[in-house]
Amino acid sequence: MANETCLQLKKALYDARHMLVAPSILSADFGKMAEAVANVKRWGADIVHCDVMDGVYVPNITFGMPMVRDLRKYTDLPLDVHLMITRPEKFVKRFAEAGADIVTFHPEACESKASANDALDIIHECGKLAGVVINADMPTELALPYLDRADIVLIMTVQAGFGGQSFKAECLEKAKYYDDIRRERKLNYLIEVDGGVCGGNAAQVKAAGVDIAVAGSAVFKATDPAAEVKAIGI
Ligand code: DX5
Ligand code: ZN
Repeated sequence: MANETCLQLKKALYDARHMLVAPSILSADFGKMAEAVANVKRWGADIVHCDVMDGVYVPNITFGMPMVRDLRKYTDLPLDVHLMITRPEKFVKRFAEAGADIVTFHPEACESKASANDALDIIHECGKLAGVVINADMPTELALPYLDRADIVLIMTVQAGFGGQSFKAECLEKAKYYDDIRRERKLNYLIEVDGGVCGGNAAQVKAAGVDIAVAGSAVFKATDPAAEVKAIGI
C-alpha cells in the first residue's frame, strides 16, 4: 500500500479544482532540459511528464534514470515518469529512487500479470504513486486487473512512441469507462490522458472524467505556452 508521502500527493492531485496540466518534456529542447522544467512551473503547469522510451517497446529512444535524477534538482513540481519500456518491473525501483513521484508503465510489457502487480507494489514501497497505461491499440479492459493497486490509470490518446501526433478522440471512451467504474466501485484512482491534448480539445477531455492532461507539443510549440497551459487546465 502507498505510504503517507504519496497519499498526500494523491490527495492534492485529487482535490485540484481544475484538470491538472502535465507538459511532456519530450517536446522540449533536449539540450536545455533544466530550463524546460523551470519553464513548466513558470507557465503555471502542475506536473512534469517525462517520457522514457527504450527503442524496443516503442520504436524511439529518449532518456533514462540519470535524466530523472538530474531534473529532480531543478524542479519541485511532481515528476511523472511514463515508462514505455519492456520489462518495466526491472526498472521501476530505480526510477522511483531517481526522484520520480509518479511511475506509470504499460502492463503488457511486463513478463506477466503477477510481475505487473509486483511493479505496482515496488513503486509503492518506494513511497511513490503507481499507475498502469493503456496504449491506443490496447483493449479498454487492460487496466481492470490492477484497479485495487493502481493510483492512476493513464489512457493514451495516441499510439505511444512519438510526440506531435493527432489526438484520437475515440480513446476518450476508455476514460469514461474508468470514470464510471471508479464511481460505481467507490475507487479513487486518478485518470490521466496522454497524446495530442491541446486547448482546443481540453473541454472534451475533461468531460470524459480526466484529472490529469499530458500535453507536449501543444505547450512547448505554443507562441504563448502559459496561455496554452491555462486553456488546457480548465
Ligand atoms: C507519446 C508520449 C506523450 C507525448 C505527448 O508516446 O507518451 O507523452 O509526448 O506529446 P503530444 O502532446 O505532442 O502528443
Ligand atoms: Zn507520455
